[in-house]
Amino acid sequence: MKSAIYPGSFDPVTNGHLDIIKRSVNIFDEVIIAVLNNNEKSPLFLVQERVNMLKEAVKGIPNVSVEAFSGLLIDFAKQKDVHVIIRGLRAVTDFEYELQIAQGNRKVSGEDLDTIFLTTSLEYAYLSSSTVKEYAKYGVCVKEFVPESIIPLLEKKFKDR
Ligand code: PNS
Repeated sequence: MKSAIYPGSFDPVTNGHLDIIKRSVNIFDEVIIAVLNNNEKSPLFLVQERVNMLKEAVKGIPNVSVEAFSGLLIDFAKQKDVHVIIRGLRAVTDFEYELQIAQGNRKVSGEDLDTIFLTTSLEYAYLSSSTVKEYAKYGVCVKEFVPESIIPLLEKKFKDR
């Protein structure tokens, strides 16, 4: 059985992330979505909120599970006995950062963890969680950018602030 981990902050999950998830389950038997629990990044949503959002968003997609993780990704992958990481590449600007992390993870894991990259579908190439938050903060409709279930959560978050 071929498994892979799709890690990220998912603050919040976007349609770009969902596109990568849907394509990943066509390649792997099992995909574990790993949500980083990292307060240093001052996320808008608590890790449990992000996990719940993702669980809702991936309902109906088979062979996907969602879990939070803290610390190093290589340790989470080891704990799960998974040897492949999936990351989406939007543009050349993502490349340098992604290459560094992928090579670092491979080296530190003792060449036990490889990263494969899926190119983001063109329709989502401009999309990021950061831009979604910025738009939502100023009242721009983000219906086209995130799963429908996320919209009321974003609205509530900015109303509460
Ligand atoms: O969605 P993001 O914020 O681009 O995801 C980044 C993520 C979670 C994949 C990356 O920050 C990560 O793996 N963090 C866990 C800590 C770690 O293993 N770092 C690797 C060496 S810097």
